Amino acid sequence: MPNIIITGASDGIGAELARQLARRHGLQAMLVLAARNASNLQAVAAECNALGARTLIMPTDVTDQQQCQYLVETTVRQLGSLDILINNAGVSAHALLEDVPADKLYWYEDLMRVNLWGSVYCTHAALPFLKASHGRIVAVSSLAGLVGVPGRTAYSASKFAMAGFFEALRAEVKDAGVSVTIAYPGVVRTNIRFHGLNASGEYAGVSGLREDKAMSTQECARQIIYGMVRRRREVVMTAQGKIARFIKLLLPGVVEKLALAAVKKEFQPKAH
Ligand SMILES: NC(=O)c1ccc[n+]([C@@H]2O[C@H](COP(=O)([O-])OP(=O)(O)OC[C@H]3O[C@@H](n4cnc5c(N)ncnc54)[C@H](OP(=O)(O)O)[C@@H]3O)[C@@H](O)[C@H]2O)c1
Repeated sequence: MPNIIITGASDGIGAELARQLARRHGLQAMLVLAARNASNLQAVAAECNALGARTLIMPTDVTDQQQCQYLVETTVRQLGSLDILINNAGVSAHALLEDVPADKLYWYEDLMRVNLWGSVYCTHAALPFLKASHGRIVAVSSLAGLVGVPGRTAYSASKFAMAGFFEALRAEVKDAGVSVTIAYPGVVRTNIRFHGLNASGEYAGVSGLREDKAMSTQECARQIIYGMVRRRREVVMTAQGKIARFIKLLLPGVVEKLALAAVKKEFQPKAH
């Protein structure tokens, strides 16, 4: 009977992970849904309950270490154990570095606090319990965490950092029977880029990426769960993503062109 924490469960990929896990496990699973927006969490919990799962709503801001500790400790106190931690909460951003005013550069740190530190805090708090259950850790990085994408210096930095953290951790916890699955989605059809940040650190309201070939949240969540269940090291999504990481070693210039092609014309860097 797995007890599963999902961060960023109030929307997008996290909410779909919750729905698919609810469908898969029904009453066998306890889904602990964490994010900041309590009413959105309630709506997702109602959908999961209708699919037969049991849920616990935990309003949490992952940038706050104490809140992450409280999330994990409350889960274990109420359910007795923790089997799976899915670090999914994340924020997007799109800006050319040269367009970011010096007095706004702090939002690079804010972004890192959600995408990297949120995962570090939750994972640190959960680790003793995951070791006890020989559990699973999932980290939702991004293809922008494998290949640097122009206009996404902050986002790519946070996702590369996340991938490095979890790759190192994987080797640390392997002998304790804990698996670490890092997921690298490409462009997925959610609202993340619309409420991501622009050069001034304000909500962008538009996406800077080409969205025409975006993956559905259903397919993305399906691939993440497939990798998690099989304790796969990585889930690299899209054929382009799978190829890009290998071409990068031999022909990095080609990968730079591919990364640039993912960005809408109006958001591409200008030569001046
Ligand atoms: N969509 C894509 O194309 C794509 C591609 C690659 C990787 N990813 C990654 O996939 C993950 C999910 O993205 P998504 O597309 O599903 O985005 P989304 O629809 O915008 O959902 C993001 C989730 O993160 C939560 N969140 C944001 N800041 C938080 C904070 N400080 N504390 C707790 N929760 C927070 C949001 O909930 P609240 O606002 O309620 O807190 C929401 O539930 C992210 O890590 C993202 O980087 C997405």
